[in-house]
Amino acid sequence: MKPLATPTRMPDTVRPRLVQMQLPSAQDVRAELAAGLLAPRATIAPKYFYDELGSHLFAAITALDEYTPTRTEAEIFARRRGEIAAAVGPETVFVDLGAGNCAKAARLFGALRPRQYAAVDISVDFLRSALECLQREHPDLEILGIGQDFARGLALPGEVHAQRRLFFYPGSSIGNFAPDEAIVFLHRLHACGAEDAQLLIGVDLIKDEAVLNAAYDDPLGVTAAFNRNVLRHVGRLLDADFDVAQWKHVALYAAREARIEMHLEALADVTVRWPGAERRFARGERIHTENSYKYRPETFAELLRAAGWNPRHVWLDDRAWFALFHAAA
Ligand code: TRP
Repeated sequence: MKPLATPTRMPDTVRPRLVQMQLPSAQDVRAELAAGLLAPRATIAPKYFYDELGSHLFAAITALDEYTPTRTEAEIFARRRGEIAAAVGPETVFVDLGAGNCAKAARLFGALRPRQYAAVDISVDFLRSALECLQREHPDLEILGIGQDFARGLALPGEVHAQRRLFFYPGSSIGNFAPDEAIVFLHRLHACGAEDAQLLIGVDLIKDEAVLNAAYDDPLGVTAAFNRNVLRHVGRLLDADFDVAQWKHVALYAAREARIEMHLEALADVTVRWPGAERRFARGERIHTENSYKYRPETFAELLRAAGWNPRHVWLDDRAWFALFHAAA
């Protein structure tokens, strides 16, 4: 019998550096969740979607025909790679906000040739294996993983070079902020770079309502499973006795606000209990889980300006379903 191959250890020099910034305590998490559930209009913050199963379900959503943002954005990146590289220039400090598996950024490395890659996500645990793999493919690129909940403000460690930062915020995650919060967020980002900072940001556009609604309520029920899974995750974190079967997924486009609203609706009168408190929900009552704002290109350009950024380029797909903006500080 042949001996098992000894695992090859990567030399430490090519191991990406990982930094975990402040993690909230379990007690803070429980307090935040309880406050949301006890509010007159109950809410759960969208960051709780992404436990292990939730991350897999979201990956499944992006593979659905109905979910247009991911695929349309990928098409723009693929078709405009050269123009994007010419606009951005080489040797940037590529700051990837919500990097996850780092695949979107990695596909641009060949064209953009960054000098440093700083991947930011809520937890370094999400980044470790992706970054180790990426480091093997790009041994000369300086790679850094940063665990941080940057929605409330980005604070980059000193190892991230201050000049020529390129903030990369794809996937229309900006749509999960209300427009006034989006301005605050982008303004803080602006303050986090020097005069030569740049921004590459993806935005899902207002389109036919049937297309929008299908993207957030697919016939296979993957989106419903993703939304309802948040109750399993919150149940574990708060030690709350949610019965997932008593809740249904509701997603609707509110044209006046130009946003998709995601809710979980009680199918019967239910009482949810956790240590120290309980919340009663009447049948039909909802927990609000997320908003996803949609924009017109002109409106989003204005929002960028209000946050201190100068829009330089915008690339759309043929159907004008999605926009990729390039802006300078
Ligand atoms: N941030 C994603 C979006 O707004 C998340 C998402 C996709 C989502 N489908 C969902 C959130 C369904 C809740 C329910 O597009």
